[in-house]
Amino acid sequence: MSLRAVKGMKDILPDEISNWHRLENAFRNRVEGYGFREVRFPIVEPTALFVRSIGETTDIVEKEMYTFTDRGDKSLTLRPEGTASAVRAYVQHSVQAREPVTKWYYIGPMYRRERPAKGRYRQFYQAGIEVFGDPGPYVDAEVIDMVVGFIASLGISEVEVLVNSIGGPETREKYRDALLGYLTPYRTELCPDCQRRMDANPLRVLDCKVPRCAEIAAGAPSILKHLTDDDRAHFDGLQETLTILGTPYRVDGSLVRGLDYYSRTLFEVLGKGEGLGAQNALLGGGRYDQMVKSLDGPDTPAIGFAMGLERLLMAMSEAVTESHVDVFIVAAQAGVRGQATLLGRELRDAGLRVESDLRGGSLKSQLRRADKIDARIAMILGESEVEEGVVQLKDLKNKTQEQVPRADAAARIHALLSD
Ligand code: HAM
Repeated sequence: MSLRAVKGMKDILPDEISNWHRLENAFRNRVEGYGFREVRFPIVEPTALFVRSIGETTDIVEKEMYTFTDRGDKSLTLRPEGTASAVRAYVQHSVQAREPVTKWYYIGPMYRRERPAKGRYRQFYQAGIEVFGDPGPYVDAEVIDMVVGFIASLGISEVEVLVNSIGGPETREKYRDALLGYLTPYRTELCPDCQRRMDANPLRVLDCKVPRCAEIAAGAPSILKHLTDDDRAHFDGLQETLTILGTPYRVDGSLVRGLDYYSRTLFEVLGKGEGLGAQNALLGGGRYDQMVKSLDGPDTPAIGFAMGLERLLMAMSEAVTESHVDVFIVAAQAGVRGQATLLGRELRDAGLRVESDLRGGSLKSQLRRADKIDARIAMILGESEVEEGVVQLKDLKNKTQEQVPRADAAARIHALLSD
């Protein structure tokens, strides 16, 4: 058997990469416009970080982590998401001592051993943001509005924005009793995981993907009816601000999300267009006001979200097929290949993207290659051109050809490209 990539993990080949670059650059531009700065974390973290933050009874921690023991007998895990690392880094570097509000963004691969499906991978890429130090609710509305606008700017128009509040610890304590009261008669119908979760963390039952559990969960009382006055005021403030911003949204009282660290605001954006399939959550996020403290940091409110880049690419309407080459240099005879190589360097120094086939070959085959890679211009150099100090420029899009002095070639190509 020949070697293949690990199941659920994909290569991204150069033909696909221009869409990735477009998406990543658009994300950077958008969030930097709101004051976010990039942060990069290790891909491997101590296992305890995820167990303590994401939660012992979550699917991620119970079933999906890539955990291994390193040679020093430490338990390490490939990061399944970025928020836990962001909090660890925020605490480790005492960032709160330097600035009252911190706005970070990140882009990178995450690892979850889920069942592979369309739009669901074991290595996938997230772009996310985290804000530390602002209790909201205005910032909650601003980040939701920011990402909804971002998704629209990608040409993804059919989306649904869901928001909910699961309140703070006091709300959840009250709700826990109501939820247990509802779930107890169904106990034996729940899956074994949920029966365990009922004792450890009944809220997790609401997030179970087993069909019968999901059916039972659908009838559960809404947490929104149990919000404390403060939590209710926070949620009202979020909705009022979203209304002022004109951000479309729908309150979904059943949205709980699969991570334990959340409190108050939760949100998800679902893609409704074709091409996404069942894995239609483009992004998810929420507030996690207790997490910094629970990881031994100062009491700091926080909110963030992460988007699945593969899913966004699937939902983006048109694929961009951008040429990666401006000029293809054709050496008409073997004797001018050295000059052609020098010319290539000169043009690159002038800011152009240049390709050539240094193996040589016939004029025709070189021009075919220029066409194939979608070069805009073919620059032809033969013995007579070298003697006269000129080059031939063939505009492959407009089907024109002209002779220009070699010294003017770069400027003329720039002019042709900007036409
Ligand atoms: P999450 O909902 O687990 O949240 O993941 C966020 C997004 O990552 C999902 O909406 C989906 O687009 C994408 N995603 C998740 N798993 C997969 C997968 N197996 N294959 C492909 N895409 C996937 C978080 O990760 C939180 N850290 C978000 C957050 C940031 N909350 C606060 N700050």
